[in-house]
Amino acid sequence: MASVSAPRTTPQSLLEKKQRGEPIAVVTAYDLPSALAADRAGLDAVLVGDSLGMVVLGYGDTLRVTMEEMLHHCRAVSRARTRALRIGDMPFLSYQASTADAVRNAGRFLAEGGMDAVKLEGGRERVAAVRAILDAGIPVMGHLGLTPQSIRALGGFRPQGVTAASALRLLEDALALEETGVFSIVLEAVPERVAALVTSRLRVPTIGIGAGASCDGQVLVFHDLLGFQDSLSPRFVKRYANLLGEAERGLAAYKDDVAARRFPGPEHTYPMPDDEWEKLRSEVGVESGERREEKTRW
Ligand code: KIV
Repeated sequence: MASVSAPRTTPQSLLEKKQRGEPIAVVTAYDLPSALAADRAGLDAVLVGDSLGMVVLGYGDTLRVTMEEMLHHCRAVSRARTRALRIGDMPFLSYQASTADAVRNAGRFLAEGGMDAVKLEGGRERVAAVRAILDAGIPVMGHLGLTPQSIRALGGFRPQGVTAASALRLLEDALALEETGVFSIVLEAVPERVAALVTSRLRVPTIGIGAGASCDGQVLVFHDLLGFQDSLSPRFVKRYANLLGEAERGLAAYKDDVAARRFPGPEHTYPMPDDEWEKLRSEVGVESGERREEKTRW
């Protein structure tokens, strides 16, 4: 559990963790309970990922997620007032069309969503947008490798940087983002040895997801790591709980209790003083001991 007095995580403190060789733990969060759980468990950062489109909203990919949907979930996460750094994921088309869009939308994540920083996908092609957002005083996290907003161009959810040429492009993209000023870079679905190489060449921390243990930190999707869905998870997911199974068990027990009139019990109901009850009884003519199953309107 995190200490209550622990200072808030900042982009700078993540950098210092890398310098001390301390691994950084990040998880996605989409609402108040997930943010509170992550913070109480001592996670360094919570990412309001556009993965919410798939795991919360039921879309088939992240491309349909809108700014309004992202801000709605960011606001819920921000109300948890976490010690963990809060990072908002910029959705598809919120930063690609123009740097003006990128700055305006990144600003909304802080001003309206209560985030501390934003994340966006892409390498050298995003340098202008990243620079403009940084110039507005907004910390930026990069995201390379499998970038789900580009799945149409990538040909699906598949590992990246598997050939020497694509691994070199990935390294050059990472160096360009670092040079521009990102405070960290997510590496998704990249061979471990490529992620290790990139991590060793960067001053800023890499946060891996399906990129092996050599990254400076790890990030997983809340619903994947806690087993909150039964659809197939990618091979890089480790499940630490089966919350969907737990939820099903709890709900079935509730349903059985309701069916058998075991719930609610007297401890779940509100008392009424006897004299008030007597007054009501004489007013409406309820027989003493009259009960619901005796077909009164009560
Ligand atoms: O949207 C998301 O959850 C992400 C993480 C998987 C890095 O981008």
